[in-house]
Amino acid sequence: MPRTLKPRTRKAADWTADVRFYEYTKAADPKMPAVPFAVLSSELTEVGKTRIIPFDLSAQLQCDGPATTPNLMASFVRIAAGEKVRTDVDATSQLFYIVRGKGRTSCEHGSIQWNEGDLFVLPATGKVAHTAAATPGNDVAIYWVHDEPLLHYLGVTPHEPRFKPTLFRKDRLTQELTAVASEPGAENRNRRGILLGNAATPLTLTISHTLWALLNVLPAGVVQPPHRHNSVALDLCIDAAPGTYTMIGAKLDRAKRAVIDGTRAEWVPGCAFVTPPGLWHSHHNESTKDALVLPIQDAGLCTYMRLLDIQFA
Ligand SMILES: [Fe+2]
Repeated sequence: MPRTLKPRTRKAADWTADVRFYEYTKAADPKMPAVPFAVLSSELTEVGKTRIIPFDLSAQLQCDGPATTPNLMASFVRIAAGEKVRTDVDATSQLFYIVRGKGRTSCEHGSIQWNEGDLFVLPATGKVAHTAAATPGNDVAIYWVHDEPLLHYLGVTPHEPRFKPTLFRKDRLTQELTAVASEPGAENRNRRGILLGNAATPLTLTISHTLWALLNVLPAGVVQPPHRHNSVALDLCIDAAPGTYTMIGAKLDRAKRAVIDGTRAEWVPGCAFVTPPGLWHSHHNESTKDALVLPIQDAGLCTYMRLLDIQFA
């Protein structure tokens, strides 16, 4: 039986109050706050109580919530032996890399044990609990990157997981990296590394539909020439000796394949730094020790939007 709608009187709304107009040439390319170069020191994970250490650049970015880049938030998580930290964000993708220590992570999707060098991604989920094993001296450090700033900007919460929890064990990462790095001609490639993929992303070939992760070896004495892309990189230095660094800048000497007037980002094991979008960046290892870096980017999203625009010098 059809429902009878009761007639209701409604006050007329004023939907014109927020109207604005801009002359085209003055507003077509608004000056946005730049994504800054910044460093999060590894020392923060080595002292103090169990806590989350945010890499929050929201003031510079003029975001109204915590953010390291417009789309992503990076943090360190420090957990003392036997203690627990809960992480709870509205994100479609969360990546955790175990910088140091061993322990366990549990969420609605299940529970896993992890050790130093393991990496995993979680889809949309409720609270996540990370517990450090109660072994004396087991001070855990985790690098944690997620896309809550993007969802906050959109004013949304995720309503379904878009991929399955995916765990990359250290021994498998090392095996795959060694295989790729020792292929003939590997020394001539722009980067000597493995992109971490996921069965859920056959188009973008990325670790999740928004996140991208690369494990890149920078051998002793080697320069990896510049490239640029529109995604923002949140680089974690896993291993390096003094004299290993990234040069980041807007100008390129194409003949020399070198960044001009760049900023030098030192690779200190356990530290993280931002490589802003659109800037050329080259990696330099003037030490006698091979180095390893883990850049995490919003390149899953940028690739899907056909906006990555990666260019090589
Ligand atoms: Fe890059």
